[in-house]
Amino acid sequence: MEVVIVDHPEQVMADIIADAVTGGASTIGLATGSSPLGTYTELIRRHNEDGLSFVGVNAVLLDEYVGLPTTHPESYARFIRDNFTDHIDIGDVHSPDGMAPDSKAAAQAYDHLIGTVGPVDVQILGIGSNGHIGFNEPSSSLTSRTRIKTLTKKTREDNARFFDSFDEVPRHVITQGLGTICDAKRLALVATGEGKAAAIAAAVEGPLSASCPASILQWHPHATVVVDHAAASQLKDADYYKYVYENKP
Ligand code: F6R
Repeated sequence: MEVVIVDHPEQVMADIIADAVTGGASTIGLATGSSPLGTYTELIRRHNEDGLSFVGVNAVLLDEYVGLPTTHPESYARFIRDNFTDHIDIGDVHSPDGMAPDSKAAAQAYDHLIGTVGPVDVQILGIGSNGHIGFNEPSSSLTSRTRIKTLTKKTREDNARFFDSFDEVPRHVITQGLGTICDAKRLALVATGEGKAAAIAAAVEGPLSASCPASILQWHPHATVVVDHAAASQLKDADYYKYVYENKP
């Protein structure tokens, strides 16, 4: 695992995606939430000003709330359109069907679809303050596939800032499983701020454990964690990671 500690994580993340796209990537995996917003803004800028093109590239989302129509401002299908994909020349953008009458079947269908349009060349990830990736909450099977999950109270509290009230935050989601996420050829996780420091330390330097689902990145052959100094503040080996990055062969 590569750990990159920089002032501007969005620049490193945008470089990773831009390199993948210009290098022939056909499928990219997108996360929602606030963490990748700077990356999306920078990629839109490069599209508008530097000619970065996403023609021939399709995208898959990590997750979706159950019960929110794709027109709802907080549905992840809508979020990604508003904040990224409507502003670039990307192809199809797939997401789980949170409104399907049979969520279990919709989750299985989405897992199958990812297998069809994939493998994902590079998957962008954020991390929850409890160590979740996608919406794989602590105790998620390390080999899980796309399925319905029940959000923890902490995740609903964290996400309540996007809704008018805590009660409006859905209780259930469809999320790619940890096994599904790890099918991607490359994982790139971005985190900023003190509030993510404990989760990043657990993911990078703690044991590989379902208690911290993001620790599955330790198992992946090509995972990069890109953090600012605040999110890196609990990493014991931060000096080593900086030394490695500065002396990259
Ligand atoms: C959302 C997702 C989640 C978020 C995580 C962090 O698609 O995959 O794992 O990345 O909840 O959310 P923010 O970035 O809002 O702190």
